[in-house]
Amino acid sequence: MNLPLVMGIETSCDDTSVALVDQSGYVVGLKSAHQNAAHRPFGGVVPEVASRQHTENLLPLVDDLMNETGTGWGDVGAVAVTSRPGLIGSLLVGVVTAKTIALLKHKKLIGVNHIEGHLVAPLLRDSDYQPPDGFDFPYVGLAVSGGHTHLFRVEGPGRLHLLGRTVDDAAGEAFDKLAKMLRLGFPGGVFVDQTARTGNPKAYRFPRGMMHEKHLNFSFSGLKTAAQREIATLSPEQLEFAKADLCASYQEAIVEVLLYKLDKAMTAMRLKNVTISGGVSANSALRERATEWARAQGYTLALPPLKYCTDNAAMIAEAGVLHSQAGHFADQELSPSARALDGDFLST
Ligand code: KG4
Ligand code: ZN
Repeated sequence: MNLPLVMGIETSCDDTSVALVDQSGYVVGLKSAHQNAAHRPFGGVVPEVASRQHTENLLPLVDDLMNETGTGWGDVGAVAVTSRPGLIGSLLVGVVTAKTIALLKHKKLIGVNHIEGHLVAPLLRDSDYQPPDGFDFPYVGLAVSGGHTHLFRVEGPGRLHLLGRTVDDAAGEAFDKLAKMLRLGFPGGVFVDQTARTGNPKAYRFPRGMMHEKHLNFSFSGLKTAAQREIATLSPEQLEFAKADLCASYQEAIVEVLLYKLDKAMTAMRLKNVTISGGVSANSALRERATEWARAQGYTLALPPLKYCTDNAAMIAEAGVLHSQAGHFADQELSPSARALDGDFLST
């Protein structure tokens, strides 16, 4: 192996994930342990449970990754770890592990903002996926997940211009809340997506938060409240019957707002390249509609495969590759932060 690999470590929420990515963005290996079963009884992520699970899962995953890919520590040039934003106890497990590996194995260390990881995920490649022809910086990126709904002009590593963000709930949170109200399962987005397939997206007219305001911010709390009110008027039998229509209409409201703002951002930025990443970009209606929209507008849309959309360490390793190529490194002072740092995002 002639190009040094970057090891990525992701523990910011409830997925423990490690990856090896080479200097061209090629994913040599990716291994993840999901914690859904541990959090399901509580209907949401319990921070203390998440930290404990990371502690148990992380080092065995690193060993498996190295063994299964036949990688020696001599092949690894740097360790990139999500250091912000996220659950502080969860981040701590990843950061302490990365710092220890860097110290003991004499590797460079890189602290990555999790949202930047989502934004560079489309640049990854493997035997089944590569970015569309011509897709490169600068591009407009919508990072849409359980924790964030952020719209950026992405110019390069560490050069993320924030164009808009949610002022309340994230889109993924909105999906999860509807799933909870309808008792569909946890985490809820994928169940809403499945249930919506047999529903009518026009059955209910849910609010499109901030749709007609000039800025590029989002708001999803009104949508949740509207759904809550609608559900409260239904008997259990009626609710069972209405579930698919509720999911389809609610999903329609989210997809419509996301694409509307993305379209506005593309027009304002005058760019050709665009990506949607983060857990919600796994949504089948969003993927279909975004693909149609990009084709109609002549935009180059990168939609990474689902394994790189939801939380994973390959995207963190890719951010590490880009930062190391730009000469950005951290040292043993690196510490986790529940929030993004000043300077992570540039204003426009
Ligand atoms: O990026 P991610 O794995 O973790 C965070 O950084 O939050 O995103 C998780 C979010 C959850 O809210 C989950 O319900 C949502 O992504 N999600 C979906 C779908 N798959 C995952 N939302 C809508 N449709 C889906 N198919
Ligand atoms: Zn995420």
